[in-house]
Amino acid sequence: MLAPAQTVLIVDDDEAIRQMLSAFLSKEGLRVVTARDGLEAIEVFRLQRTDVVLLDIRMPRMNGLEAAKAILEMDRGTAVILMTAFAEVCTAVQAIKDGAFDYVIKPFDLEEIRLLVRRALEIRSMRADIVSLRRELSERYGAEGILTDNPKMMDLRQTIAKVARSQATVLIQGESGTGKELVAASVHYGSPRATGPFIRVNCAAIPEGLLESEFFGHEKGAFTGAATRRRGRFEQAEHGTLFLDEIGEISPALQVKLLRVLQEREYERVGGSEPIPADVRIVAATNRDLEAMIREGTFRQDLFFRLNVVALKTIPLRDRPEDIRLLADHFLGRFAADNNVVIRGFDPAALDCMLAYPWPGNVRELVNAVERAVVMSTGNVILRDDLPENIICGERAAFVSELLPDGEAIRPLREMASEFETRVIRLALARNGGNRARTAIQLGISRRALLYKLQEYAIT
Ligand SMILES: Nc1ncnc2c1ncn2[C@@H]1O[C@H](COP(=O)(O)OP(=O)(O)OP(=O)(O)O)[C@@H](O)[C@H]1O
Ligand SMILES: [Mg+2]
Repeated sequence: MLAPAQTVLIVDDDEAIRQMLSAFLSKEGLRVVTARDGLEAIEVFRLQRTDVVLLDIRMPRMNGLEAAKAILEMDRGTAVILMTAFAEVCTAVQAIKDGAFDYVIKPFDLEEIRLLVRRALEIRSMRADIVSLRRELSERYGAEGILTDNPKMMDLRQTIAKVARSQATVLIQGESGTGKELVAASVHYGSPRATGPFIRVNCAAIPEGLLESEFFGHEKGAFTGAATRRRGRFEQAEHGTLFLDEIGEISPALQVKLLRVLQEREYERVGGSEPIPADVRIVAATNRDLEAMIREGTFRQDLFFRLNVVALKTIPLRDRPEDIRLLADHFLGRFAADNNVVIRGFDPAALDCMLAYPWPGNVRELVNAVERAVVMSTGNVILRDDLPENIICGERAAFVSELLPDGEAIRPLREMASEFETRVIRLALARNGGNRARTAIQLGISRRALLYKLQEYAIT
């Protein structure tokens, strides 16, 4: 027996077939409705969307193919099974390309129908699972998934929510580890495409020779080794978002091809000649300076303009010290739970270390440091010594021993003193939540002197 309360619409102008299928599928536990031709089928389906539609092809008034098209337009998730005469198999195959589920050849036996309907219902329910999983992801990765206490990042979050709703191509630029992928996911999961796929391609990780087939797929036999037809990333991302990560790494040849897809919204498989429409939203990201690459002639300016319709910039962690604490606490909670340990928080000395550290690897480095600290920790707070060595500087970083780890050469005093000053000023700023007036007072220098030093040491 099939699962109860699932519904099927049977469409055939032959009353005998309608009756036979109705009786059989009701016995299988489905709720059955019927229609006599394509027009009636559309009317019935409009009132009651069924899980499956069994559709004769040759009927008066409106044929099955046109009806299938209209029905799938109303609900892409419905499984349309065409019933066709042997001579019309070609038409049925075309209908499958347009989104029908399968076909049976008349005369069929009922066992065949039973298998087809059961398979259609199974696939439908798997699809429903996927949609609900994606909805869950969307809740987790919507713009709310970006944690921050920093005003500029909050602006970014608002911008993401706004651009997500549009179809516009987005280019995300920012240092490594600043959350570009998270931003890309937020754009997708905050958009009307959220129930569609979010497909990421790491442009830097694919061998040059395979990039094109990776992007656009290939036909069987397109090149040596292409034993079967392959769906490219554009095809996989249909109705969803394609995230082109590390876009700065693609070759000039592929830049041209990509530009063409963005302009014409269609592409061809390798070895294929038929253009395929690309219903895909593009989000690209890079930590390279694309403008500089354009000047050097390694990145096409026209492609840049196509990608950069909406420009989003992520902010280095050192420029938003308020987030260090927020993210450290957040990830501490997560890793403690993962490791089944109870850790209350960070010891003040550990926190100072983290605040004074410039985090060249940004949030990713912070996440790794916190994970390591949780593993190293033996008590119920994270101590300074639980942190990775390169982060440990201590608030009394003045000690030359720490500026000169074992064996490191002594350099000019001026150079080492500036390094020290930079660390102290960073720490003081972070402790004061970025407030410069208060920082200057604490450091016992004038506000002007502080501003001068910020500029000199390029502290932002
Ligand atoms: N604001 C944030 N809130 C929560 N988690 C964050 C935030 N920013 C970054 N992360 C986390 O930090 C890690 C690194 O982020 P992500 O991979 O998005 O960076 P990226 O800019 O793509 O880095 P790369 O250039 O190295 O690929 C991820 O685990 C991500 O979830
Ligand atoms: Mg990334």
